[in-house]
Amino acid sequence: MNTIKIGLFGFGTVGQGIYHVLKQAKNAHATIKRICVRDISKPRATDLPPSLLTDRQEDILDDPEINLIVEVIDNADAAYGIVTTALRRGIDVVSGNKAMLARHLPELIDMQRRYNAALLYDASSCGSIPVIRNLEEYYDNDLLLEVKGILNGSSNYILSCVFDHGETYGQALDHARRLGFAESDPTFDIGGWDALFKLIIITVHALGEYVAPERIFTYGIQNIHEADIRYAREKRMKIKLVAQVAKVSESAFTMFVMPEFVGPEKYIYSVDDEYNGVVIRGECYDRQFMFGKGAGSLPTASSILSDIMARRHNYRYEYKKMAYLDRPAYTTDVTLRIYARYGTTDIPSLLPFKKITEMYMSEGSNYVIGDILLSDLIAHRRLLDASDIFIANLSRFFSDRDISH
Ligand SMILES: NC(=O)c1ccc[n+]([C@@H]2O[C@H](COP(=O)([O-])OP(=O)(O)OC[C@H]3O[C@@H](n4cnc5c(N)ncnc54)[C@H](OP(=O)(O)O)[C@@H]3O)[C@@H](O)[C@H]2O)c1
Repeated sequence: MNTIKIGLFGFGTVGQGIYHVLKQAKNAHATIKRICVRDISKPRATDLPPSLLTDRQEDILDDPEINLIVEVIDNADAAYGIVTTALRRGIDVVSGNKAMLARHLPELIDMQRRYNAALLYDASSCGSIPVIRNLEEYYDNDLLLEVKGILNGSSNYILSCVFDHGETYGQALDHARRLGFAESDPTFDIGGWDALFKLIIITVHALGEYVAPERIFTYGIQNIHEADIRYAREKRMKIKLVAQVAKVSESAFTMFVMPEFVGPEKYIYSVDDEYNGVVIRGECYDRQFMFGKGAGSLPTASSILSDIMARRHNYRYEYKKMAYLDRPAYTTDVTLRIYARYGTTDIPSLLPFKKITEMYMSEGSNYVIGDILLSDLIAHRRLLDASDIFIANLSRFFSDRDISH
């Protein structure tokens, strides 16, 4: 591809960032030919030529000069329609839409092969941190044991306000909303869904396995309470919302999103505010750490620009790991050690703990620490939504295959 003519879908936070970085990117040899938005009458950046804007998808999809679609809209269903139409017509796509990708990746991978079109989406997982392409290319071997990290900037910002600046959870949430780090309905972020969708995409490129969202245990930070914060502080730890995929044996891996107690010896302990951090652990090299801005207009646009440049050099994901023999299988038959704080709901008798190692009861709140199967947590997932309950993981390595020390 010599000159790239872009059809841009979406001109919000990310779309405007792309417009801005492309004006500066001399080596991209890429120009935006048309921008499709939802509401064409909305006031826009003053230097945007009005002729660039349209609200008709066909103005981009039917334009024979446009050879790359960049899709950054906030509607997953409409994004699915745009991306599949483009791929079917053999037009390459760059997307940042994790919600759409996490639900439809198997079909989108198949369509890329069938219609010989490429779909790149590094911006969908961790904004400016190049996780996907690194997992796809550099970590293309059997040594990878675990990918784990803080994948959601909004919830991390809130937890940082609590642990580093002494705010209550309610104050921190208000603060995050005022600064634009959390939506008016923050469920997508603090409920763990954003991190889950990123984790699903990461797992496809880490282990060559797709697992549908509804099969994965996802638990957010919305029920966190002063008692949990106090408990973490007493143990000199922070609570972070952590997403992880980990091999538990040669033949199996597990994955989940949940709050975790994190001590100062862990890399992610120092990932604060709206930042993201990803730890990649493997045999022979122990742990590696990637840190950076996981969201925001320009950080995300920089990742999109990288995908645009990659297409200029005909780069595409080959999904090599999906064709490997002996790929590990997804399992929830793993034991976690969790902290469960509860009020009136009788957690010790309702959750089928294999072993209880600590129990504390007081007038205000109670907690129990014990071992439980991930499959049992999934089976009791609805119970855990009760507002007097909060659970968090006490992390440990699932596999001791690290031979570096
Ligand atoms: N924000 C981030 O930091 C970030 C980071 C990584 C990935 N992403 C992903 O990037 C995507 C966009 O995020 P954003 O924060 O830029 O969203 P945003 O600020 O809410 O902007 C959304 C844009 O999409 C347009 N739009 C919505 N539905 C449309 C449709 N059916 N057809 C055409 N245009 C449509 C809107 O048009 P109007 O302007 O007319 O309303 C708006 O310009 C999302 O998938 C998000 O998950 C965002």
